[in-house]
Amino acid sequence: MNYTQIAIDGPAGAGKSTIAKEIAKTLNYTYIDTGSMYRAITLKAFKLGINLEDETAFSFVNETSFEFINNHLHMDGVDISGEIRTHKISNNVSLVSSYLSVRKQLVSVQNKMAQSDNVVMDGRDIGYNVLPNAKHKFFLTASIEERAKRRYEDNIKRGIGTNLEKLVDEIKRRDHIDTTREHSPLKPAADAVIIDTSDLSIEEVVRIITTKIREEV
Ligand code: CDP
Repeated sequence: MNYTQIAIDGPAGAGKSTIAKEIAKTLNYTYIDTGSMYRAITLKAFKLGINLEDETAFSFVNETSFEFINNHLHMDGVDISGEIRTHKISNNVSLVSSYLSVRKQLVSVQNKMAQSDNVVMDGRDIGYNVLPNAKHKFFLTASIEERAKRRYEDNIKRGIGTNLEKLVDEIKRRDHIDTTREHSPLKPAADAVIIDTSDLSIEEVVRIITTKIREEV
């Protein structure tokens, strides 16, 4: 059976996960948040006490299992969806996700997940690397100020202590690492629809995307 794949890429705070989740709900598709998998590996590396600068210490990724249950990521059978949102993880995940060996393994797991279900998958390299044959591809952007503001409000809702100027710096730093890394940098697929969400509400973006998907069916 052939399943439909929808790829949504973009930088931190562009609204990807909220929008991808909403679209998955509307279409009754499975939502796969690939960023949470890179965050989970970063969390596990801290728990194992390995040196984050040493790519060879990341062979544990091959023995790590992932499952999304009700939009919550379970790693090795444990729901870690809350633990992966801290500043410590956010500030180290881009280093971990720059390693080719880590990417190869996670991309293979992500690819398998998309072979057994209709999926909305969000990340940085989905449209041109993980699911290059996805039927629908979107790339969401927004100004750095707007993205930092959204993340600030998110953090407050999650009870994470936060500072707007610091968030601007953290996001800029992460954008820089993600767009300039050697392996699968953040970029739109050549055939992605690019949407600047700076002045759009979540509902407006969801409407634009679902309308396009229905037009393209
Ligand atoms: O939610 P937020 O936009 O802060 O980021 P995320 O989607 O949780 O992704 C966290 C980090 O994982 C990104 O900054 C990238 O370094 C990395 N990532 C990646 O390299 N490739 C993906 N497909 C998804 C995330």
